[in-house]
This record gives sequence, structure tokens and C-alpha cells, in this order.
Amino acid sequence: MALSDFLRSLENLQDEATKALQEARDAESLEALRVRFLGAKKGRFKEVQKQLGKISKEDKPAAGKKLNEVKQKLQEALQAATEALAEGTGDGPGMPPQDPTLPGTPLPLGHLHPITQTIEHLKEIMGRMGFETAEGPEVEDPWHNFVALNIPEDHPARDPLDNFYLATAGNQPGGEGSQLLRSQTSTVQIRVMEQRQPPIRVISLGRVYRPDAPDATHFPMFHQMEGLLIDRHVTMANLKTILRVFANNYLGEDVPIRFRPSFFPFTEPSVEVDFWWDDRWIEFGGAGMVDPAVLEAVGYDPEAVSGFAFGLGVERLCMRRHGITDIRDLYSGDMRFLSQF
Ligand code: FA5
Repeated sequence: MALSDFLRSLENLQDEATKALQEARDAESLEALRVRFLGAKKGRFKEVQKQLGKISKEDKPAAGKKLNEVKQKLQEALQAATEALAEGTGDGPGMPPQDPTLPGTPLPLGHLHPITQTIEHLKEIMGRMGFETAEGPEVEDPWHNFVALNIPEDHPARDPLDNFYLATAGNQPGGEGSQLLRSQTSTVQIRVMEQRQPPIRVISLGRVYRPDAPDATHFPMFHQMEGLLIDRHVTMANLKTILRVFANNYLGEDVPIRFRPSFFPFTEPSVEVDFWWDDRWIEFGGAGMVDPAVLEAVGYDPEAVSGFAFGLGVERLCMRRHGITDIRDLYSGDMRFLSQF
């Protein structure tokens, strides 16, 4: 027998058997096909195998090799067809007849990213205390990101190495007319005060950008929740109460909070805000009484009104609440991580 004939009959057998196996609709017909193609005595494969004896000696290795390949393919096709029937899934040949009384295959529904969920939650808690939400742009000018916030030209916070300036139309980074990705949501304080008169009670949640090297607690893009309250006779005690009530609501138990003296150009006095959590103090953000220079920059009378502001890291809050230990997990896009929330 010529090698080419032998190979062709193997190929035909493989095509025919794979097609038939894919179309099997129930266990009986699958078993019949197994016997027909792979049966130990009279199966079609066995018959072809018998022809091997008629192949010349020098062609035998090639013929034997093909024989083994086809046998393996047939066994795989049989296995696949058996599994498809057992699962009853798949949407083509190989599926059992539809049974309309069985429950449907659920469609996997997506859900909001944990940070988006956290933002919604934070808005809801602050909303109950009368804070409405304000928005501001992520691409900012130096006036809103620095100048109006009392951050002078020579302040290290304006350094091009510490900010993402945009390479636009020949502007000097940090100079007049330059633009940058905002490094803090405090910009929105200015935007709100420029447009409205006291009393003011707003929060603003959004992305901010800093050229920080990523590690377990830092990422170059993260979110902040800014809070601003302007009215008559506002005190540090009001600030502490609001943050305490917030912490208790968000973290779900009586969370002590602590103020540590600090410095921000746009608040005086300024504090770092720590929450007591997991048996230690953890820093969540900064806060303070709005500096009179900022009130003047937006046209308010610092003798008539006062207020407080705070800025908390949204990722840090989310991570504490959910026991996330590495901020990078939030932005890896790994569904095994994200689908837990
Ligand atoms: C500020 O950004 C001030 N604007 C906060 C503020 C607002 C003070 C209003 C006074 C009045 P700071 O740079 O400390 O402050 O950042 C605040 C919080 O952002 C940090 O405590 C931390 O929770 C979070 N944060 C800062 N850098 C990163 C980062 N690279 N990745 C993740 N979170 C960060």
C-alpha cells in the first residue's frame, strides 16, 4: 500500500470522527461513535491500523508516527465531547437539546471599581452632614494649584520635578500660562470660593497626580477627598468633630482621631490627621483652618468669615476598611483581586 493512501485514509478518518463527535447530542450517540471509530475490535481506527502491515519498510516510521498522532487527536476529541456533554455548556454542536425548565446560565455582571465604590460611600456619609459635592478639573493652572493657595513662586512644592507639568506651547513649567495635572484637590476649594459666597459646605473627590515612586502605600495617581466649610465663627473643634463623625461612620466603629501640628501654606494652624486603627495611629491626610491669605485671594473678608479644610487620601481609607495591604493592587487590573469587592 502506498504511504500517501495510508496517510489520506487516516486524515479522512480524523476529519469524519472529529465532526461526528462534535455533533453528538447525548451519551448514547457518543458511545456509539466511540465504538464506531475507536472500538478495539472493529473500530475504523483499528481497521486502518491493520493496513500498517502493508506499508513498505522504509515508509513505516512515517506511517506509524501519523497513526499515533491521529489516535491521540481522536482520543482528545472524544474527551472534549464527553466533557461538553457533562457540563451542558457551549453554544453549538455538542450541546444537549435545550431544556427550557432548567435555570439559565448566569451572565457575569461587572461592578464598580473599589475606589469608585469608596467615593460613593464617602459622598453619602458627608452628604448626611450637609456637605454637597463639587467638581474641579484635573488639568489645572498655577493660580488654582498654587498661587491662590498661598504657595509662592519659590516654594519647593512648585518644583517641576515634583509635579506633572504639561508640555504645552512653549510655556515654562510653573510659569504664567503653564498647566499641570493637579497635585491635590485643594484646587477645588479655590474654584468653589471664587464662584460662591459663604456659608459653604462642600467636599470634592477626584484624582490627583504626583511623581511619587509606586510602593505599597504610594501611587503616582491617587484620589483625595477635599472638604471645605466656611461660615461665621468656625473653629478647630468643628473640624475635629466632623472628621471624627466621618471616621466613625466610614470605618464602622468608634475611631479615635488625633491632630498633629503640621504646616500647609493654605491653612493656619495646620495639622496632620491620624485615625487610631489596628492598634496604631495611621495618617489619613492633612487639615487646618483656612489661611486668611486664601480667603483674601478669593475676595472674602477674613474678619467676617472663617473656615476649615481637610484633604484625605481615598486609597488609604479604602485600604484600611477592606484590609488591602498594597495600593498597587487597586490599579493592576487583575480581576482576581477586583472581583472580591
Ligand atoms: C495634601 O495634599 C493637602 N492638600 C491636604 C490638605 C487639604 C491640608 C486641606 C490642609 C487643608 P498631603 O500631601 O499630606 O496633603 O496628602 C494628603 C494625603 O494624600 C496623605 O495623607 C495620603 O493619605 C495621601 N497621599 C499622598 N501622596 C500619596 C500617594 N502618592 N499615593 C497615595 N496616597 C497619597
